[in-house]
Amino acid sequence: MKLAQVILAVMTTALTAQGAVTKEPFGTTPGGAAVEIYTLKSDAVEARIMTYGARIVSIKTADKTGKVADVVLGYKDFAGYTGDKNTYFGSIVGRYGNRIAHGKFSLDGKEYTLPLNDHGINTLHGGTVGFDSLIWTGKEIPGGVEMTLVSKDGDQGFPGTLTAHVKYTLQGGALKIDYTATTDKDTVLNLTNHSYFNLAGEGTGTILNQEIEIHADKFTPTDAGLIPTGVLAPVAGTPFDFTKPMVIGARIGDANDQLKMAGGYDHNWVLRGQNGVEKVAAKVHDPVSGRVLTVTTTQPGVQFYTGNFLDGSKTGPSGKAYAKNFGLCLETQHFPDSPNHPDFPTTELKPGQTMHSVTTFTFSVQK
Ligand code: GLA
Repeated sequence: MKLAQVILAVMTTALTAQGAVTKEPFGTTPGGAAVEIYTLKSDAVEARIMTYGARIVSIKTADKTGKVADVVLGYKDFAGYTGDKNTYFGSIVGRYGNRIAHGKFSLDGKEYTLPLNDHGINTLHGGTVGFDSLIWTGKEIPGGVEMTLVSKDGDQGFPGTLTAHVKYTLQGGALKIDYTATTDKDTVLNLTNHSYFNLAGEGTGTILNQEIEIHADKFTPTDAGLIPTGVLAPVAGTPFDFTKPMVIGARIGDANDQLKMAGGYDHNWVLRGQNGVEKVAAKVHDPVSGRVLTVTTTQPGVQFYTGNFLDGSKTGPSGKAYAKNFGLCLETQHFPDSPNHPDFPTTELKPGQTMHSVTTFTFSVQK
């Protein structure tokens, strides 16, 4: 081989391992704004990510027999997304992912008021118009796409102009999400990705027979509005103990107040290891397809949500309706309602500081 050929061969291999990137138009919002979709391809995974909500639209990967399926819930076209204000399929939620009690928090002695978009009681996923339904600016980067959003001072009641960058990069089976954010005034933030996974393939049934392991010895029990009481409760001896792999549905129907209030799992687990240091948060395994999802994160918590509010009214790309428990979310995050819990890891960000967090979804198969 000539040198040029060798270089080309090496480059092609790097591209395959790291992921090739292409961009296409995906739709237009009711307000007339253009939405683009980026396709990231590696030797193991194809992931599509759009600029609306910086959302993961699909993740295609093979099972133990080589059969490829889309392992996240979504819609067949862009219109499905703008017509859905409840599920947050695939989105980056913010400025504050998860809940803030009664839509109020104080910072530097000043009280802030947010929209009460969760049953009129609390703020959920950043308010009425959260980061999930805004158009981000996409830019191709090696192996992926960088999404940028500027949220103005006062957006949904939050102080400070916040500039957020979310980089998605694909390498082999690993889809890495790298978050950074800066502000021009003291503020609070909690950014996460709200993908619903079903390792058997979207629309194929519930996730109740799949197994999960969560690397956490404690969780944050909640009140009826799913706001943490402030207690870090041990999982030992409860249906919240996933320190060893357990079938998701094995204890979901137990006579347990926490499960009853949430209609299943919809709680934050306090991850082992250090806040800011990447560690395994959870592993999901589908014994039928053999697919495995490993979630690593620098975040201190993960919201494990079993799609309790899916009710058959949303239909995915395969034409199948999504019933209760048809997908699960692993929202790596700071704890819900942290601005009202000074003893929780802080979600405050000040001018001159940069918030940085990393979460990686890695797909593999177990034969
Ligand atoms: C999060 C919440 C759930 C629910 C979903 C979206 O996971 O914790 O209670 O609101 O988002 O339906």
